[in-house]
Amino acid sequence: MNKGKISFTYLSQQDLLKSGCFDMKMALSATEKGLIAYSNNEVLFPEKIVQIFNQETQERINCLPATFLSEKICGVKWVSVFPLNPMKYGVQNLSATIVLSEIEKGYPIAVMDGTLCSNIRVAAMGALAAKYLARKDSRSIGFIGAGEQAKMHLIGMKSVLPGLEECRVSAKNEHEEDAFVEEMSRLLPEMKFVVARTNGRIAMEGADVLVTATSAQAPLLKAVWMKPGAFYSHIGGWEDEYGVARQCDKIVCDDWETVKHRTQTISRMYKDGELNDENIYANIVDLVTGKKKGRENEDERIYFNAVGLSYVDISIAMAMYNRAIEFNIGQNLDLQEQMIFQNQMLTQWVKL
Ligand SMILES: NC(=O)c1ccc[n+]([C@@H]2O[C@H](COP(=O)([O-])OP(=O)(O)OC[C@H]3O[C@@H](n4cnc5c(N)ncnc54)[C@H](O)[C@@H]3O)[C@@H](O)[C@H]2O)c1
Repeated sequence: MNKGKISFTYLSQQDLLKSGCFDMKMALSATEKGLIAYSNNEVLFPEKIVQIFNQETQERINCLPATFLSEKICGVKWVSVFPLNPMKYGVQNLSATIVLSEIEKGYPIAVMDGTLCSNIRVAAMGALAAKYLARKDSRSIGFIGAGEQAKMHLIGMKSVLPGLEECRVSAKNEHEEDAFVEEMSRLLPEMKFVVARTNGRIAMEGADVLVTATSAQAPLLKAVWMKPGAFYSHIGGWEDEYGVARQCDKIVCDDWETVKHRTQTISRMYKDGELNDENIYANIVDLVTGKKKGRENEDERIYFNAVGLSYVDISIAMAMYNRAIEFNIGQNLDLQEQMIFQNQMLTQWVKL
């Protein structure tokens, strides 16, 4: 084989789906692994690079690298977020590509779809929190928001709370609620779905598990709708009134130091002096490693806030890549056949 050859595996979203990578259990385990590796200082996680094209709509493309030193894999997620896409074009707002490289020669090993990975990561983080913090006998789940994150979250929650049997959903428009039910009932035919006809109260009041996954910046979830014993997973920006966090017995984050500096509800509360470090019970890794207890009684109201940790995307991407390779799925593509000056045809191709 030519020594100068560099090739990688190209994995489309279809390839990942066909290899069985839409697998919440695999994502949960990769999430736990990623969190533990990071807490053991085995992950290089530099600052993300953000390019915002429109301050008002927050249309942006971000570049998020991370290296797993034990696995000897460096990855990057290149992710676009165009929040108006669903409204303007009827398509998803987030799309991502992931590149994985080995760190012996530093060559790429995979170029792959990152949208599946990114969306699964958000849901896996919420589901991991639910595993430790929701009541095991949870039967009902309520959603404000019926977009991509909400859909994926339902799959994640069902995988850790198999007793979920009723799902209520509210969105900005009724047609989104209908689309949610149509798509999700195909995957979860046993689930009873209730459309709330844009009324957040109908979706959330009295539910065992509450999820907000919206593009809104408003206090949509009301504290009185959250019953004792309920678990709340907060995904978007500002989605709930301050009273929700204020009344919760525990507030857990994916990473409080990161959350603090963003614009989600509890970040706003922190900046407004309504909440401080002492009010945060734990980061999720403390539950995974057993350093802190999860739910301690049936009546606790528990708030989980995820801001998104992109090194977890790379951890999940590695698991997906390994699974695809195991099933021999994906295309092997050459990046270069040989080193530039080894090309026999170079004399004809070079322009001096
Ligand atoms: N925390 C994380 O790790 C993470 C990761 C990815 C995305 N997000 C965030 O999750 C949120 C949802 O993302 P998505 O991809 O599902 O978006 P999406 O555009 O597909 O869905 C947004 C949903 O919000 C609903 N909505 C908007 N305004 C509303 C209102 N006033 N009342 C009720 N519902 C309303 C819409 O009807 C829609 O169903 C976004 O804010 C996104 O930035 C968070």
